[in-house]
Formats: sequence, C-alpha cells, structure tokens
Amino acid sequence: MSISTSIEETLTSLEKEISVADLGSDEAIEEFRIRFLGKKQGSITGLMKRIPDVDPADRRAFGQRVNELKAVAQARIQKAQVAQGPGVAGTSDVDYSLPGRVPARGSLHPLTETYRLITRVFESYGFSIEEGPEIEDDWHNFTALNFPPNHPARDMQDTFFIEQPTQKHDGILLRTHTSPVQIRVMLDSEPPFRVIVPGRVYRNEAISYKSYCLFHQVEGLYVDEGVSMGDLKHILHVFARELFGEDVVMRFRPSFFPFTEPSAEVDIWWKDDNMPGGGRWLEILGCGMVDPNVLESVGVDPEKYTGYAFGMGIERIAMLRYGIDDIRILYENDERFLSQFD
Ligand code: PHE
Repeated sequence: MSISTSIEETLTSLEKEISVADLGSDEAIEEFRIRFLGKKQGSITGLMKRIPDVDPADRRAFGQRVNELKAVAQARIQKAQVAQGPGVAGTSDVDYSLPGRVPARGSLHPLTETYRLITRVFESYGFSIEEGPEIEDDWHNFTALNFPPNHPARDMQDTFFIEQPTQKHDGILLRTHTSPVQIRVMLDSEPPFRVIVPGRVYRNEAISYKSYCLFHQVEGLYVDEGVSMGDLKHILHVFARELFGEDVVMRFRPSFFPFTEPSAEVDIWWKDDNMPGGGRWLEILGCGMVDPNVLESVGVDPEKYTGYAFGMGIERIAMLRYGIDDIRILYENDERFLSQFD
C-alpha cells in the first residue's frame, strides 16, 4: 500500500530540506531544531500529530516515514553539536572536555588479605582447611579441651553465653576460640590430622583500641605418630619468615593453655629505632603439644599419637603487617581506610 501522492511529495521535500540545511553554527542548529522538531510548530512534529487522521490503510507506512525523518533530523543535530565543540550552553548538556569518570575499584579487606596469606603458607605444607560452628556447646569449647569444670582457666576467655550451663544441660555459647574445631575434626575421622581452621570467635571484653567483641583466628592442628615440638617450631618459623621476612627474629616463651602441654607463646622482634633497646617483642600466637587428655576425650590413643596445635589472631597479624594501631577501624567499613589496600 503506498501513501497518497501529495503526502509523499511533502515527505520527500522535507527529507531534502533536512539533509541540506546548513548547521554550521549554534544558532543554525537551534533554528533547525525549532523548524523541524519544535514542540508547537516543528514540521515533523506536525506530521506526527497527523498520524491518527491518516487513512488507516496508509497509516502504518506514513508513521514509519515520519519517524525515519525525525531520526534523521535528530542525528543531524547531534552530529552538528559535536562538530561545534564542547559544552556550548543551550545546545548540549554534555561537556566533552571533562575527563572520564574512573569506575570505583573494589579491593580485598586487609583481614581477607591476611587470612589468605596465612592459609596459603599452611596449605603449601599439606594442611587442609576445616570450619566449624560459631555457636558451640560448653563441652566442645571447654570440657573436651581439658578445661576442668568451674576452673579459673575458663575465665581466661570471657564468654558470651546463649544458655548458661545448668546441672542438667551443657551451656550454649559463642565460641571463644577456634580450638573446639580440633575436637570436631578428631571426632569425625581417624588420625593423622593436619588441618587449619579459620573462623570468627567472640569474647565478652571491653572494646578498646586493642580488643573487640569479635575477631578472627586461624587454628592449626597436626596429629600423627611421632610429631614433636621440633616439628612445631619448624612450621612456625617457616610461617613467620613468610609473613614477616627472611630475617625475622622469633622466640618461644613458656606459657599455659589447658589443652596443650607444654605450651608456649611465640613473639617476634619488632624493630623500632624510636624505642629504647631498638624495638620490642610482640606476641603473635599461642601453641603447644596437644595435651594427652584432649586426645583421650576424642578417642585418640595418646600412647600412639602425639600432635601440636597453634592458634593466632588474624587481626593482630594484620595490624602488625600494615601498621594499624586501632583494631576497631577494621570493622568500620570506612572507605578512606579500605581503599588503601589495593
Ligand atoms: N585457643 C588459644 C586462644 O584462643 C590459642 C591456642 C590454640 C593455643 C592452640 C594453643 C594451641 O588463645
């Protein structure tokens, strides 16, 4: 179906006008816009308004032609505006001279970065990753780890109880350390065990620059025939060198944990020329040989097997590595802080 000849002629001449019009200045562009596309008197606008009145047989073809014309006119305006240059008031609201917007790039949280670093070292020595629940019972968190009932050692780790223990029921609590996962791993399978356990732990402590109500630990456990304190020292030395450099100086300081015997805390020497003595010892983790009572509580024969365990706070290590002096900043999600860790 073709459009009637008179309309066809109008369209063809309009098309010509649109294509030859001179758009060499901002004024000419504006004039062109008003003439063809102006809301009130633009000739294309007028044709669009007439679409409903066109004979239904021709309406579709007519509508299509008018829309094509409109697109051609708009394209001419746009091209002419670009040619006229940037930021010309009234003709374009796009300033082509502005620098592009750089999309914001995300980065890993310093705790994630540190966690990955730590686990990578141990994975390369054959440790596999295990996880456990953050809501624990008293037995896994304390009793099986050789904390005697009502023993003051339980106060070492101020606990958030969900249900206080009673004569009849075990207490339910937010785990105070990742050590209960040692118990779960040993109950679930047979030795040898060689695992690291990352996870979140909770302590009911006053919040300050150096302690927070939750933090993250990485636990390590290796149980097999003939595992010795020498093996423990070796793996921790490897670890400290990876994280703090080849020439790291570390020491084992005798300590106490109910679930290890003997127990030690590991310090590294932190060089600081502004301090008397040129630095200071900083504790990075707790460790020891798994107490035979713990092995017995999970049915592992302590006459046949020995093992070591260690546990470290990811926050502490991250703070040392990055020179962060307030733990709270790690949880504030302040972009000014986080964007420094690209
Ligand atoms: N669970 C101890 C703590 O939270 C750390 C530790 C783990 C110590 C394993 C020795 C062995 O402080």
